[in-house]
Amino acid sequence: MLTMHNYSFILSLFAASAVHGWNNQHPFSRRQFYQEVQTTAITAATLGLPQQAAVAQSTTNTAPLTSISLPPLGLGAWAWGDSLFWGYNPKNDAELQQVFDYAMTQSNNGIYTTTLFDTAELYGLGRSELLIGDFAKQYPPEQIQIATKFAPLPWRTQPQSVVQACQASVKRLGNRPIDLYQIHFPGAWSNAEYWDGLAMAYEQGLVKAVGVSNYGVDALRACHAALAQRGIPLATNQIQMSLLYRHPLENGLAQACQDLGVQILSYSPLALGMLTGKYTPERPPQGPRKLIFEKLKSTPDYDNLLRTMQEIADGHVGATPAQVALNWARAKGTIPIPGARTLQQVQSNYGALQWSLSEGEVKALDLVAAKVQTFNQPQDNPFPTVDKNTGLRMYDS
Ligand SMILES: NC(=O)c1ccc[n+]([C@@H]2O[C@H](COP(=O)([O-])OP(=O)(O)OC[C@H]3O[C@@H](n4cnc5c(N)ncnc54)[C@H](OP(=O)(O)O)[C@@H]3O)[C@@H](O)[C@H]2O)c1
Repeated sequence: MLTMHNYSFILSLFAASAVHGWNNQHPFSRRQFYQEVQTTAITAATLGLPQQAAVAQSTTNTAPLTSISLPPLGLGAWAWGDSLFWGYNPKNDAELQQVFDYAMTQSNNGIYTTTLFDTAELYGLGRSELLIGDFAKQYPPEQIQIATKFAPLPWRTQPQSVVQACQASVKRLGNRPIDLYQIHFPGAWSNAEYWDGLAMAYEQGLVKAVGVSNYGVDALRACHAALAQRGIPLATNQIQMSLLYRHPLENGLAQACQDLGVQILSYSPLALGMLTGKYTPERPPQGPRKLIFEKLKSTPDYDNLLRTMQEIADGHVGATPAQVALNWARAKGTIPIPGARTLQQVQSNYGALQWSLSEGEVKALDLVAAKVQTFNQPQDNPFPTVDKNTGLRMYDS
């Protein structure tokens, strides 16, 4: 039975929201969404692009291959379209456009040349991709990097499933090649087929780089090797990491990514807002996150962590606890992709790039964070841990 106090509940809600969270505010129906995945026929030629050089070079070594260059911080768009967990309301689309526009100032500031957005076909069943595709229209494509994700749903068993889903995402994103195409989480049965599908999407020029998400060490190595055989670099592993979820640093996953030259995108870097310090018992977050907050709040160590974060923020002009959380994730060698849905949030999050934590501050945060009884453990998450066909371990944290 699901308890209301673990993260698996949230992820279940996320899945439920993907499947059931459809309402009449969405621009097209769930059936249309699936039909689009089946029928869209977009190729490199229709996008006006050359196919990626059919990658002749075949290699079995695991040396890092040259991959994409990403900015030090991205913007996550799970909440853009998700009704059930995040309470999305299309009336706020104008504000989301402001958030997008502010994020785009980052690729114009003379320091970073691109702005990174993270979305997925599951987020609002395509709504998040549609919004980003729409907002992106007015900007030069070379200033934007859009990362989206293939959902390994049980009935998707063939490499072609990946290509078809990718074509539908390309269409929703405004007929532009996808900068980074990721497998959203391990599948229970068809993982090698998905890697094949990623390679096909790359070779057909539908995507510029490929990545995975929620992959453990063994799965990461196997996927990296399979792609390397075709001369394709595995660019990224998008994993949960924050001051309240440090497992990848402790179980060898972060190290394995580094060894293979796979960049880490850290998701939920603000622990769904719990690391911003803005919630109080009188003003808790709304919806399912209220239960997470109450669980954390019941331990004094959580308050100690927030206090330390505030003290560190006070030592840097204009800094906030949320920026401390993001700069901790950066100090651990990852690219955080915080979610934001107001102008104030996105401004504050990019403000983290104006300063860095000292080594001593990182150590102090590590010490105090290690004591917090956090709100979820890897085993709470509902991802398949093993490929049932091959026995390959797929998920660690
Ligand atoms: N690959 C995966 O399986 C996976 C799973 C989860 C997330 N992700 C990705 O990671 C992204 C970020 O993770 P997340 O959205 O789960 O959580 P998060 O980034 O840890 O937290 C986002 C929430 O924190 C609050 N917030 C953000 N910036 C703030 C600021 N500067 N000051 C105060 N509050 C602030 C907002 O909550 P309020 O709006 O309620 O105030 C916001 O919705 C997602 O959008 C998605 O792209 C991927």
